Amino acid sequence: MNYRTITLAQRWDLFQAQDSVCDEAWPEFMLHDPVAHMYWMRFIELFREFQLMLMLGDQILAVVNAVPLSFTDSLERLPDEGWDWGVEKSVMDHGKGVKPNTLMGVQIVVNREHRGKGLSSAAVEEMKRLAARMGLERLILPARPSEKSRHPLIPIEEYITWENGHGLPFDSWLRVHVRSGGEIIGVCSKAMQIPGSIAQWKEWTGMEFPGSGSYIVPGALNPVSMDLESDRGLYVEPNVWILHDGIGGQHDESAHPG
Ligand SMILES: CC(C)(COP(=O)(O)OP(=O)(O)OC[C@H]1O[C@@H](n2cnc3c(N)ncnc32)[C@H](O)[C@@H]1OP(=O)(O)O)[C@@H](O)C(=O)NCCC(=O)NCCS
Repeated sequence: MNYRTITLAQRWDLFQAQDSVCDEAWPEFMLHDPVAHMYWMRFIELFREFQLMLMLGDQILAVVNAVPLSFTDSLERLPDEGWDWGVEKSVMDHGKGVKPNTLMGVQIVVNREHRGKGLSSAAVEEMKRLAARMGLERLILPARPSEKSRHPLIPIEEYITWENGHGLPFDSWLRVHVRSGGEIIGVCSKAMQIPGSIAQWKEWTGMEFPGSGSYIVPGALNPVSMDLESDRGLYVEPNVWILHDGIGGQHDESAHPG
């Protein structure tokens, strides 16, 4: 598809439109991660040139959000706290003036009206180009495997070993990354932690929780635990660390200011 890529640094007026494309993509409870609440607007404003939109005319086809951070440890030791860790770290690094060497993908969302057309691979390529343009060595992502929600009782460590019969991951989102040169590094089992009162969980899911225990919630990758005595529900989202390495050495032919 003949799209063009722009950043929020170039078109801040598109922030609301970008936000709407993304909010529609997630189950309601995913919008209540306390780390996201604390840092979302801060990282968007700090790193406007890292927030991309694939455009066709005035229409947003896909949104790519990412943050720069410094990671100098061994890649096998990428933190279990995945998304929550990376988003916070990017803001903290910036505050302390620490030079970033890594791009972390925050999310890729394809506009509902344009799904199933291969745009997700194009969005991953845009993320890689962004890393190259910004002089970063690598791209890491705490990836949310798309079909894991249909298998909430399978441990994520086992799920990521499933294949599709052609030597590629069973999960379509992991498959997109592996096909575009990404490597599955391991699991981040506490990528997001979403606590709420029982009333909040009822509101977010439209479900009833008449007793304490683990519940299968549509859109959740693992069961959600409810404790009526302490009036607390907790969802711990497992993701998968993906690495696209060697980006620093790539020459970005399509570099543009932004
Ligand atoms: C996940 C997402 C980005 C995929 O975007 P897309 O442009 O529709 O996907 P593509 O057309 O590029 O297809 C990519 C792969 O997914 C498969 N796929 C697409 N929709 C699917 C579905 N509903 N169920 C199962 N597989 C699906 C495609 O067949 C393709 O796999 P293949 O090439 O091996 O056949 C999009 O569905 C989305 O924005 N979802 C909500 C947000 C999200 O989950 N983002 C990813 C985590 S941050």
